[in-house]
Amino acid sequence: MMERRTFLSRLVQLFSALISVLFALPLLRFVQASFASTQDASAYPIGDVNALQEEITRVAFTRLMRDGWMVHTVEEYVWVRKKPDGTVLVFEPHCTHLGCAYDWDSKSEQFRCPCHGGRFDKEGNRIAGPPPRPLDRFQVKKEGTQIRIGKISKI
Ligand code: FES
Repeated sequence: MMERRTFLSRLVQLFSALISVLFALPLLRFVQASFASTQDASAYPIGDVNALQEEITRVAFTRLMRDGWMVHTVEEYVWVRKKPDGTVLVFEPHCTHLGCAYDWDSKSEQFRCPCHGGRFDKEGNRIAGPPPRPLDRFQVKKEGTQIRIGKISKI
């Protein structure tokens, strides 16, 4: 037969374990949600390749962002080059010098940064000005005709 003191001690241990599990559940759900939002960001859909009319197009899209249990939307855009062979390049839309938003100039066929005169060709290579490297690109995945972007790769 179990002594009263032993029984009470085990009862306290059982309640302690139960309370620990109850406190750990929200933490586990938070960690799980963090991994889920990372996976979403690793292959985010930005549009249909067949909708691109020009070789180089500014593509706007809405990204869903998860922050813990909150979900909000952020308006973003990228520059997309659809090459004649069907491959797609997706450029991060900020200059690699100091982060200004650059624009595509179809006459000169160059990306031009208004801040300090940085210029890039349609492959994203730096051709003039102070930028220290080519334009940053997103990793691209195509699922059928859908373009999905992943992490930014800096050259
Ligand atoms: Fe683009 Fe300086 S920020 S050239």
